[in-house]
Amino acid sequence: MEKMPYRDELQQAVVLSTTQTVVSTDWRQGLPTLRGRQVVLRELRASDAASLFALLTTEEVARFISPPPSTVAGFERFIEWALRQRAVGTYACFAVTVAGFDTAIGIFQVRSTEPGFATAEWGFAIGSDFWGTGVFQDGAALVLDFAFDTIGVHRLEARAAVRNGRGNRALQKLGAVQECRLRRSFLKNGEYLDQMLYAMLDTDWRGSRAPVFASPVRVH
Ligand SMILES: CC(C)(COP(=O)(O)OP(=O)(O)OC[C@H]1O[C@@H](n2cnc3c(N)ncnc32)[C@H](O)[C@@H]1OP(=O)(O)O)[C@@H](O)C(=O)NCCC(=O)NCCS
Repeated sequence: MEKMPYRDELQQAVVLSTTQTVVSTDWRQGLPTLRGRQVVLRELRASDAASLFALLTTEEVARFISPPPSTVAGFERFIEWALRQRAVGTYACFAVTVAGFDTAIGIFQVRSTEPGFATAEWGFAIGSDFWGTGVFQDGAALVLDFAFDTIGVHRLEARAAVRNGRGNRALQKLGAVQECRLRRSFLKNGEYLDQMLYAMLDTDWRGSRAPVFASPVRVH
């Protein structure tokens, strides 16, 4: 999450290149709506800017992530950028909503870190009123299914600042494997922080979802 690609200050002058190749697959033309037990994940809309600004710019949410846009207009530019990146097949960002309500309360983002999306990184932020409610775990399972089964990711990485106890624990609960410490890898408020690198493989995730069959009963 900490090193996800969008930077508001870099995007304000960007104009979409008309020469970009748009490969025709379903998710590149529009993200599917994913329904869990508690959450519905859907494509971002410009109208999500206000609630995302209100919920994701608080001190406790933004403490360990790259600075989010600092205005509603900045979030609108981020959403426009996200839709363009999705259309060229390098990035997908879902709005998190609670079933029965359409307000965006957070985001999950997945970006390709090499051509073809075999290796990717994901990140997430949820409004703090919804922490500890199961919303994250429910949404994360949908995004992991989407990344591995729909996009075709083979290895999905995540970074969490070592001091981000909640973020580290949330990843561990999903079965992400802590692979190494990235020393002084994340600049936050003028200080370089250490991060933990986590990864999940498609086989890890599919194995964790596999149904557990009862042991066969031996008849002597
Ligand atoms: C990361 C985030 C999406 C997780 O959502 P969440 O609803 O808080 O996650 P969960 O409640 O499922 O899991 C958090 C776990 O951390 C634990 N936890 C809370 N504070 C902790 C701390 N200081 N140290 C260690 N674990 C902590 C919780 O008890 C919980 O574990 P449990 O279910 O075993 O009790 C959310 O906290 C968030 O948006 N944070 C701000 C953005 C951010 O930091 N994103 C990057 C994360 S790498």
